[in-house]
Amino acid sequence: TTKAVVLVGGPSRGTRFRPLSLDVPKPLFDVAGHPIIEHCFRALAKVPEIKEVFIVGYYEEHVFRDWIKDASKAFPNISIKYLREYEALGTAGGLYHFRDVILKGNPDRFFVLNADVCCSFPLLEMLKLFEEKDAEAVILGTRVSNDAASNFGCIVSDAHTKRVLHYVEKPESHISNLINCGVYLFSTESIFPSIKSAIKRRTERPRLLSYPSSENLESTFAAEREDEGEKNEVIRLEQDILADLADSRQFFVLETKDFWRQIKTAGSAVPANALYLIKAFQNQSEELAAPSATILPPVFIHPTAKVDPTAKLGPHVSIGPRANIGPGVRIKESIVLEDAEIRHDACILYSIIGWGSKVGAWARVEGTPTPITSHNTSIIKNGVKVQSITILGKECGVANEVRVQNCICLPNKELKRDVSNEVIM
Ligand code: GDD
Ligand code: GTP
Repeated sequence: TTKAVVLVGGPSRGTRFRPLSLDVPKPLFDVAGHPIIEHCFRALAKVPEIKEVFIVGYYEEHVFRDWIKDASKAFPNISIKYLREYEALGTAGGLYHFRDVILKGNPDRFFVLNADVCCSFPLLEMLKLFEEKDAEAVILGTRVSNDAASNFGCIVSDAHTKRVLHYVEKPESHISNLINCGVYLFSTESIFPSIKSAIKRRTERPRLLSYPSSENLESTFAAEREDEGEKNEVIRLEQDILADLADSRQFFVLETKDFWRQIKTAGSAVPANALYLIKAFQNQSEELAAPSATILPPVFIHPTAKVDPTAKLGPHVSIGPRANIGPGVRIKESIVLEDAEIRHDACILYSIIGWGSKVGAWARVEGTPTPITSHNTSIIKNGVKVQSITILGKECGVANEVRVQNCICLPNKELKRDVSNEVIM
């Protein structure tokens, strides 16, 4: 049998998802009408042999309770449990800590999914490769631009055999543009011993830290984490396990040509929303709004939302529960969250409108388009780095006729004059 683990992290993480993570834990944030984590479960539920899925993280017990209740009804064939780490144990530390629960019933293998990625999760193809190769591990990989690659785990593979030859987490210099998607399939027989020997190595010979260049913000965070890691005995799949697997084991990569994005910054919820809506449209999902002169597909409108027939929506728009969209409104490439109100003739482009926020008549809230293949949600404007997506936190107000451009606005702010390229605190 096969089980699965979804890694969700905890409240000290997801800081780049602010201000949205101030009001909802990132895995439960809605994109394309469903919590981020639910998109993982939709894929897991399509693998018949998966009967049990664990959500592993260090959020408090109650955080996932309601969602698990609903999901257990929506996915009746899988049992879903939350396993809480007493502190951040790292991506492999959590697996090891809960090994007895995972190993119960002697599963041969299990999937591990990072909750914060958006992709088509080709799990059946991964299983097929796993069996064909009699693998100990299969990792999902995707090609990104050379510039973007060093923000991810990089894989060097043999094109013919698909064997992973080298794995380096967020390398300083370029080694490959085939990167780790954060989706793995491991044989239970080999992964737990690997983690165990990594722990043993760590105790015998504390790891040397290498500090990355200060320009690379992402790696600076990684270095900070390694600091924390040394104190807390954090064990990471990426730094402590995968490189070893590549050296000596049956480790293979399935390269997906399908869509893939990481969901880190709050702004990255907008491309993730677009990609999942496109997928739903291709699958002719009944959930989507019917195309018309004013609905440019794909668009998701929650059944309890009110949308005036003269409002023009899409493409790539999600409207949350009880949101109210007035006459003459234009919304494109955006997420409008529950109870938000958009008054007549307002325009919302490349933005996220927070829960209960109000946008006045003839106001404009807009971000700047970035290519859908770009793995970066910041852009340079007037020499400063700003977010390409405009975000209004919970219960913000934008007055009539005001223009808000490339701004991040913390919860409960009233915007009464035009603002651009700012973080409004
Ligand atoms: N349970 C638990 N405990 N989960 C954790 C912990 C932990 O201590 N630390 C991180 N996670 C979860 C995060 O919530 C996320 O879903 C996933 O594990 C990976 O998060 P990070 O450790 O922050 O790594 P990353 O996102 O910067 O990079 C990883 O994902 C990339 C793909 O999105 C790496 O695996 C990269 O190699 C990969 O390219
Ligand atoms: P993610 O979206 O989960 O990657 O969060 P983030 O990368 O936006 O968070 P960030 O890197 O800003 O980390 C926030 C704080 O949590 C920092 O002080 C980190 O040092 C700390 N942190 C991140 N990961 C870990 C971990 O695995 N263990 C511990 N103890 N602290 C961590």
